[in-house]
Amino acid sequence: MSLPPSLGIAVLSLSLLLTTNTAISSLNAMHGNFMQCFLDHTCPSNSSSQLLYSPNTTAYDAVLRSSIQNIRFLNSSNTTKPVLIVTPTNESHVQAAVVCSRKHGLRVRVRSGGHDYEGMSYVSEGDRFIVVDLAALRSVTVDAEHGTAWVQAGATLGEVYYTIAEKNRTVGFSAGVCTTIGVGGHFSGGGIGTLSRKYGTAADNIVDFRLVDANGWILDRQSMGEDSFWAIRGGGAASFGIVLSYKIELNYVPPIVTAFNVIKTLKQDATKLVTKWQKIGPNLDENLYIRVIAQAMDDDEAEGNRTIQAIFNSLYLGTCEELLTVMGCSFPELGFEAADCNEMSWLESVLFFAGFTGRPAEVLLDRRPEFNSSFKAKSDFVREPVTETAWEEIWKFLMEAKDEPLILIMEPFGGVMNEIAKSATPFPHRKGNLYIIQYFMRWFETDMETTERHLSWMRELYDFMTPYVSKNPRAAYLNYRDIDLGRSARVWGPKYFNNNFNRLAYVKSMVDPDNFFRNEQSIPPIKSP
Ligand SMILES: Cc1cc2nc3c(=O)[nH]c(=O)nc-3n(C[C@H](O)[C@H](O)[C@H](O)COP(=O)(O)OP(=O)(O)OC[C@H]3O[C@@H](n4cnc5c(N)ncnc54)[C@H](O)[C@@H]3O)c2cc1C
Ligand SMILES: *[C@@H]1O[C@H](CO)[C@@H](O)[C@H](O)[C@H]1NC(C)=O
Ligand SMILES: *[C@@H]1O[C@H](CO)[C@@H](O)[C@H](O)[C@H]1NC(C)=O
Ligand SMILES: *[C@@H]1O[C@H](CO)[C@@H](O)[C@H](O)[C@H]1NC(C)=O
Ligand SMILES: *[C@@H]1O[C@H](CO)[C@@H](O)[C@H](O)[C@H]1NC(C)=O
Ligand SMILES: *[C@@H]1O[C@H](CO)[C@@H](O)[C@H](O)[C@H]1NC(C)=O
Ligand SMILES: *[C@@H]1O[C@H](CO)[C@@H](O)[C@H](O)[C@H]1NC(C)=O
Ligand SMILES: *[C@@H]1O[C@H](CO)[C@@H](O)[C@H](O)[C@H]1NC(C)=O
Ligand SMILES: *[C@@H]1O[C@H](CO)[C@@H](O)[C@H](O)[C@H]1NC(C)=O
Repeated sequence: MSLPPSLGIAVLSLSLLLTTNTAISSLNAMHGNFMQCFLDHTCPSNSSSQLLYSPNTTAYDAVLRSSIQNIRFLNSSNTTKPVLIVTPTNESHVQAAVVCSRKHGLRVRVRSGGHDYEGMSYVSEGDRFIVVDLAALRSVTVDAEHGTAWVQAGATLGEVYYTIAEKNRTVGFSAGVCTTIGVGGHFSGGGIGTLSRKYGTAADNIVDFRLVDANGWILDRQSMGEDSFWAIRGGGAASFGIVLSYKIELNYVPPIVTAFNVIKTLKQDATKLVTKWQKIGPNLDENLYIRVIAQAMDDDEAEGNRTIQAIFNSLYLGTCEELLTVMGCSFPELGFEAADCNEMSWLESVLFFAGFTGRPAEVLLDRRPEFNSSFKAKSDFVREPVTETAWEEIWKFLMEAKDEPLILIMEPFGGVMNEIAKSATPFPHRKGNLYIIQYFMRWFETDMETTERHLSWMRELYDFMTPYVSKNPRAAYLNYRDIDLGRSARVWGPKYFNNNFNRLAYVKSMVDPDNFFRNEQSIPPIKSP
């Protein structure tokens, strides 16, 4: 545990202050008091006023937007923006932000990579809050000898992958494919990608962590205990504190891997192949990951007609020669051949999946949002293969959406995901799930009408999919957060966490009984497990 001396006093007097003066303060006074408190509690050597951005400063908008992936909340009457943004450059700044916001009646939203699907790291439906933006706390320290690394929460996946590979090209890490995702949100919500069938989720590979709790204390696995260690590996850390860093175990990857795309339209039997894939993909050799990205598009060969394009977007942890044998035995129908192979290093496969093929690896260090657009996503888990006739109906639905395409991203489970117990971490989506579907729609206009129209498409698609996906509960993936699942934990709790929800609420009641760390879908404290 570590606590700067000046903070020790603040923590002791905190409970007194909380019960007294905040209700009568005006917002401006609160905000001003926060600033003064923050300056008092941080080291003046690095002028800490430069770490604070209020809405009346010109830099506020640029800092707010610096990592926002979904601009839909910037023009929404449903949400409010932070009264202040804090950009810590030292762990002690995070402690001060917690102590001072608590003392002055403000809430905290923490942002690492800003990819939250519902903007919960930077907007709120009612709380007056500050954003603690961890982008500057992003070091990645690799211990090559022990095959581990300490990764600060503000690092992006691109920075993690790049730094690990720089140290040793036969280690990688199991996490998501979009390289601007932040470690802070992603690891704590699960984290799935091309290595999940072999190594599990990102959360499955965490071995230690450092977190600032609601008292402003820095705790780790040993001082916080195994219940908390369990909770932050899939339960979403936002309910429990501010993660400063995670210690992770790196994953072995061979020096040569093979990436490929096989693309099929309806005329090329896409429907049969996708139907087949549902049984094959989750049962393949765990070195082979084949996901399917499906969307409607104009048919090049038939003017005015629409078709479905299914991309079999894949990674094999081995050479082309080995892969040809595996594909020949397991999935001959796909017609995979040597010409489809792209042999490369594991880091190059990261570029391949992120859509950066041919670009220098340093593109992974670019944290800027690529699109500056609005999007809406939802998720489902499939436990029984969908029939060919049902796929034809689903394709019709996709082809009728006249706006930007509705995209289905289907990621296979199986492999080691089947072997990890459902209760090992809060992420419960293990054996019995064939694959996860993510529904995704992106658009560029920012007026309400366009936004509502796209949200409606997504809600209709979700209703339409009901018969084909998991039931009782209809499960959802926390990292693909969906506010349509509601604000009541009784509804979304079992969907995101199944039977693990009660233990999460119990841990919450132990570490943050006052529910200081909260958002529209955070774990509520309960009195008994
Ligand atoms: C384009 C895109 C592609 C994606 N691809 C994948 C994928 O391949 N696989 C996958 O599994 N997911 C994927 N995701 C989802 C992603 O994993 C989640 O959105 C994740 O929560 C983002 O983490 P973040 O730090 O970037 O987001 P933020 O918006 O910064 O945070 C997300 C949530 O975590 C909380 N949080 C952030 N940092 C901390 C911290 N240090 N301590 C405590 N709480 C914190 C926030 O308050 C918020 O509630 C993708 C998202 C996008 C937008
Ligand atoms: C901005 O607002 C803060 C807090 O309300 C105040 O302290 C500060 O003086 C203001 N700055 C400017 C430039 O108006
Ligand atoms: C998106 O916004 C960020 C931050 O404002 C900016 O740096 C980036 O260049 C923008 N990207 C595009 C493609 O406009
Ligand atoms: C605002 O909230 C309402 C009610 O939850 C919802 O139906 C609507 O889609 C939201 N609008 C936007 C633009 O997010
Ligand atoms: C001081 O701030 C600068 C940028 O504002 C940052 O790069 C540096 O790491 C900070 N130093 C400390 C000790 O926090
Ligand atoms: C963070 O601040 C503490 C004092 O509060 C100081 O001892 C330490 O060197 C700082 N760390 C960095 C990385 O700047
Ligand atoms: C690189 O990682 C592999 C495991 O993937 C390990 O066996 C090897 O010793 C590491 N090399 C170095 C130089 O650390
Ligand atoms: C376009 O689609 C219709 C209906 O499915 C079909 O009858 C027609 O042959 C198609 N046109 C072409 C040129 O393929
Ligand atoms: C915000 O939404 C309103 C209402 O739809 C619209 O009139 C306005 O143009 C939008 N503003 C921006 C910046 O897109």
